[in-house]
Amino acid sequence: MTINNENTYNYRVVRQFSVMAVVWGVVGMLVGVLIAAQLAWPDLISGIPWLSYGRLRPLHTNAVIFAFGGCSLFATSFYVVQRTTNARLFGGPLIDFVFWGWQLVIVAAAVTLPLGFTQGKEYAELEWPIDILIALVWVAYAVVFFGTLVKRKVEHIYVANWFFGAFIVAVAVLHIVNSAAMPVNFMKSYSAYSGVQDAMVQWWYGHNAVGFFLTAGFLGMMYYFVPKQIGRPVYSYRLSIVHFWALIFTYMWAGPHHLHYTALPDWAQSLGMLFSLILLAPSWGGMVNGIMTLSGAWSKLRSDPILRFLIVSLSFYGMSTFEGPMMAIKTVNALSHYTDWTVGHVHSGALGWVGFISIGSLYYLVPRLFGQTEMYSKRLIEMHFWIATIGIVLYIAAMWIAGVMQGLMWRAVNEDGTLTYTFVESVKATYPYYVIRLTGGLLYLSGMLLMVYNVAKTIMMAKPANDAIPALPAQAAHA
Ligand code: HEM
Ligand code: HEM
Repeated sequence: MTINNENTYNYRVVRQFSVMAVVWGVVGMLVGVLIAAQLAWPDLISGIPWLSYGRLRPLHTNAVIFAFGGCSLFATSFYVVQRTTNARLFGGPLIDFVFWGWQLVIVAAAVTLPLGFTQGKEYAELEWPIDILIALVWVAYAVVFFGTLVKRKVEHIYVANWFFGAFIVAVAVLHIVNSAAMPVNFMKSYSAYSGVQDAMVQWWYGHNAVGFFLTAGFLGMMYYFVPKQIGRPVYSYRLSIVHFWALIFTYMWAGPHHLHYTALPDWAQSLGMLFSLILLAPSWGGMVNGIMTLSGAWSKLRSDPILRFLIVSLSFYGMSTFEGPMMAIKTVNALSHYTDWTVGHVHSGALGWVGFISIGSLYYLVPRLFGQTEMYSKRLIEMHFWIATIGIVLYIAAMWIAGVMQGLMWRAVNEDGTLTYTFVESVKATYPYYVIRLTGGLLYLSGMLLMVYNVAKTIMMAKPANDAIPALPAQAAHA
């Protein structure tokens, strides 16, 4: 039941995005498990082009980042901006457009990527008509979010909204600039850039997709849901402001670390390396701020599995933002680049940080959105946590070992200068690690299936008329 009363919050769209986050999470991870199995057994599916590895891999990355991560970000930002401004979402029909438009983008991606339509730019594969739809939905999202901020009934803008706001603005700029292309027909276009400029624009986009889509938005989640779940204000509000400005300034310059030892001018590569090293400081500042919010209340970790998801996500955030700057050092990158070490780094950020902070926030949100005080089963959340944690450890440990092994095998030379190993020997040596990674992925996916059951049961117990909850005084966690 929807009540269009200015004194209520719009929870309908938050509910829609929350449910779809869980659904797309399962779909995207299922595809992840499938491609992990294909890497272990390359002939698993042969002869069906749209199920081939090359087409399913971008489907996986798009589904987990933009469908699972995206829906989690829409849900939480729409919830947080209302709760911390004491205002109902601005934008009327634009709100529905954001939800349905984004689902259309996801379905279009799920159809066109397996069919082989792609611009060939990582994380920006979708062809130009879908890119235009993304731009329209994003502008509508910005109008709804910033419109709500403008009509806020609380003077102060809580820091979570700063992070969500930066994420929205930056992703708009990145998407529009990197997607500039010349269409030749409805499903084919050529990039507006060429050669090394194309590569630089792409990785300026790619790295900032990590910085703003996979980090800044999720830090917005962290700054609201961690203090809320603990029940005390964020450790240092001043640190959160320093964290914000330092992070968004530094991220923008680090992109060239994806192009070490390429045709990109050497000074640009070194600049990227330098800014990546500097990035350690704001990243850890944010992590410390989140984790220290627990100081004096550590015992809560023992009894609260939702809090465990949130806090462990911050540990993974700290780990991957330590590892990233190390991998950006040119001599380290000479070993890690092209190896599975990169894939391990990606998934400690993706499964540990992005996945866990989203899962924790969704477990916080779902009961509140459906008129309940808590999830159907705390035990299932507990099980989800342990299964997923073991899954991540298997995944990333296997990829680290495989990656370092590959790097060392590729550079090993005999006394006469010939290579010690053929490439195929390194592939063969990687096989056991691919099977371990697959096991880790299966565990992580099983945890998500427990979540589906728990969420479905919670929704079944739902009371109607949730939108009638009156607007409360601002719930900003620092208040
Ligand atoms: C069940 C969970 C998952 C499994 C089994 C899985 C598996 C995989 C596999 C096999 C690849 C290809 C690696 C390669 O090309 O060598 C991959 C790539 C990738 N996955 Fe996942 N994944 C999972 C979850 C996620 C999640 C939740 C995210 C993001 C939030 C994510 C983001 C990515 C990204 C960004 C890449 C590209 C990495 C690169 O280019 O280096 N994955 N995944
Ligand atoms: C201080 C923060 C970070 C720095 C400096 C950093 C640095 C790096 C470096 C050097 C690479 C390898 C580039 C290459 O050899 O091709 C990389 C890859 C990657 N990182 Fe990070 N990283 C950071 C944090 C994160 C986080 C938190 C995530 C995820 C949530 C993440 C996601 C990725 C992805 C998806 C790739 C693979 C890109 C590709 O497709 O090739 N990074 N990062």
